Amino acid sequence: MENTNDKKQIVFSAIQPSGTITLGNYLGAVKNWVKMQQSGEFDCIYALADLHTITVRQTPSVMRQNIINAYASILACGIDVEKSPFFIQSHNPNHAQMAWVLNCYTQFGELSRMTQFKDKSAKHADNINAGLFTYPSLMAGDILLYQADKVPVGSDQKQHIELTRDIAQRFNSIYGEVFKIPEGFIPKDGARVMSLQNPTAKMSKSDENVNACVLLTDDNDTIMRKFKRAITDSEAHVCYKEGKDGINNLMSIYSSVTGLSFEQIEHDFEGKGYGDFKVAVGEAVINELEPIRKRYEQFVKDKKYITECYTKSDELAFKISRRTMDKVMKKIGFIK
Ligand code: TRP
Repeated sequence: MENTNDKKQIVFSAIQPSGTITLGNYLGAVKNWVKMQQSGEFDCIYALADLHTITVRQTPSVMRQNIINAYASILACGIDVEKSPFFIQSHNPNHAQMAWVLNCYTQFGELSRMTQFKDKSAKHADNINAGLFTYPSLMAGDILLYQADKVPVGSDQKQHIELTRDIAQRFNSIYGEVFKIPEGFIPKDGARVMSLQNPTAKMSKSDENVNACVLLTDDNDTIMRKFKRAITDSEAHVCYKEGKDGINNLMSIYSSVTGLSFEQIEHDFEGKGYGDFKVAVGEAVINELEPIRKRYEQFVKDKKYITECYTKSDELAFKISRRTMDKVMKKIGFIK
């Protein structure tokens, strides 16, 4: 690992700023971002994908606060801007420019097949805007601008990564090797965290039932209460099995936080009831989140620090991405 001549692989990922992040965002994405950054094995570039959020109507004051809170909470999870940039997408105009260019290399039919577009247009039937439709080419631009090798994402983003590869290959087949063809991957130790109240649905901040979702900002009592109320089944046997969605979800949260395997967990809770298990999961999550929450409370008050972190990251991200953007413009036939 000492060979410094070997270029490290580039990892790119982004998350939409919906305010302080949830246990689902943390275990499903950000915890893994931190791990990849700390491993030193990759050059990691992370972003807050704020341009993506306006595909759905936002209230300006709420949006501003959501961006700050999301940025602060991801820093609090352990992302270190001294190691690699964590920037704000809208601060780098290359993203909007690349999205326009890629729109012209993306087919209407391809975008029509995106399941997220179909889902979101059903959900926001009163605002099926062109941005919602072309969202995948903005995302493709995010990735291709940085010549990323690897893109850690949740399984819901797999189709967008496939499309990114298709767009990049199409562009390269016309103009030569301009883009690195990125690979999506769904980290195997990243838990897909489900609602604590309806474990067949993804844990979501917008859930009507407050007990469904654990926030990074929840205090210890609130976290414990939510786990104690988690929906399970009537079998009273802690084991991972098809159909036991509630217990499967709790096991995968517990495993993700403690590092214990499912077999080990089953063994440890042999003969114990769900009550004991829920308390154990609650305690493990509290242990994990308490230091993050304390850091978050500090950061979110410290506007100067946050601004420093993103300004520095924005500048670096601009520089890296401009190289690709310039090349793309030149290849297509624009003049300097
Ligand atoms: N679309 C992603 C989501 O909603 C967020 C995102 C935007 C992203 N750009 C990206 C993820 C680039 C990975 C790479 O979850």
